[in-house]
Amino acid sequence: MQTFALKGNVIYTAHRGKLELYPQSYLVCEAGKVAGVFRQLPDRWQGIPVEDHGDKLILPGLIDLHVHASQYAYRGLGMDMELLDWLECNAFPEESRFADLGYAERAYAIFTDALLHSATTRACIFATLHRPATLELMKQLENAGLPCYVGKVNMDRNSPDTLRETTGQSLSETRYWLEESKAFSKVKPMLTPRFIPSCTDELMAGLGSLQREFGAAMQSHLSENLSEIRWVSELCPNTRFYGEAYAQAGLFGGSCPTVMAHCVWSGEEERALMKKNGVFIAHCPQSNINVSSGIAPIKNYLDEGQKVGLGSDVAGGAHLSIFRAMTDAIQSSKLRWRLVDQETPALTLPDAFYMATKGGGEFFGKVGSFEPGYEFDAVVMDDSSLPTTRDCTLEERLERVVYLSDGSPCAKYAAGRRLF
Ligand code: GUN
Ligand code: FE
Repeated sequence: MQTFALKGNVIYTAHRGKLELYPQSYLVCEAGKVAGVFRQLPDRWQGIPVEDHGDKLILPGLIDLHVHASQYAYRGLGMDMELLDWLECNAFPEESRFADLGYAERAYAIFTDALLHSATTRACIFATLHRPATLELMKQLENAGLPCYVGKVNMDRNSPDTLRETTGQSLSETRYWLEESKAFSKVKPMLTPRFIPSCTDELMAGLGSLQREFGAAMQSHLSENLSEIRWVSELCPNTRFYGEAYAQAGLFGGSCPTVMAHCVWSGEEERALMKKNGVFIAHCPQSNINVSSGIAPIKNYLDEGQKVGLGSDVAGGAHLSIFRAMTDAIQSSKLRWRLVDQETPALTLPDAFYMATKGGGEFFGKVGSFEPGYEFDAVVMDDSSLPTTRDCTLEERLERVVYLSDGSPCAKYAAGRRLF
């Protein structure tokens, strides 16, 4: 793989709360990894190709820790409902259509094109319970060069006939899919029990066995909405808190790399176990507002040392942009401070940028920063389309891109490869 450099205004964060700002500097890529950021190109790299991006901003590729590819085509519809009604009226009927592989090909082509042209380089993605359609999505992402995790969803109860497997089918299809997924080099499979109301204890135990056999990662939903949490406590009387239902199957962090979306209402015991087991929290602020789930205490999670990234949660969230998720996270934290908890200050731009890059990126390994040794994932943002009379600092320019841009980069790199 070729050694090269990007030149421009480089911004990243290595520590939450602090932006690293390098005006007119060189970001060097060696063997697909970041070699460093330098104000002058060091002697040893004189003569390497330099892609000069002029006065544009060069940022780490953004991370979407939670998105439903199968819901992308109807984002922005049916938003006047709470979670459980929204699932029944919108998500389940749409996902049922992915039994038709031709439909899935068309829908996933729209999603993959949108993800490719966004500032997101890596994502944890829900497909549907259909194995062939899930493999089609993985193929499209692999061809686009996006190193994502994708999950074939598991559902064997409390779902319509058109979107439910038997326990045996769910497990055998998942095993077959894990085997077939070995054909991909960039895209990886991730176990995806939809949430506890959709999965029997027997299914969860079987997925736990598959996790240990294949060493797979896992994603699901946790403590999103009060009616959902009440329902889980009825379905699982032998648990003290929601997360324990995953933990009993061995699917809650520790040796099982885990992303849990939402965690709006996680109590003390759940938080302690998430922290102990290194469970990643996917904060999905827009979805939490749209389906009236609440405002997650993200500043507290960060301060207590939880691992937190951002999720678009399309189509609970209407927008795929993680820049938008950053502003939604900041804005909803201000409402939480004003209306719920005056002891905890709101999130700041550097907090949100951290979650969108290094915070979520950690789930993928050394991802989301320009420190040496990190995967070379980068996006180039042109803010000349946001004219101003002000003479802005780099930090101010980043803030305007986050709040105002449509989120489309003019160049994008993943694992050292230019995607466009
Ligand atoms: N919980 C279970 N399924 C879903 C889903 O598709 N979206 C959201 N936001 N929450 C869920
Ligand atoms: Fe979700």
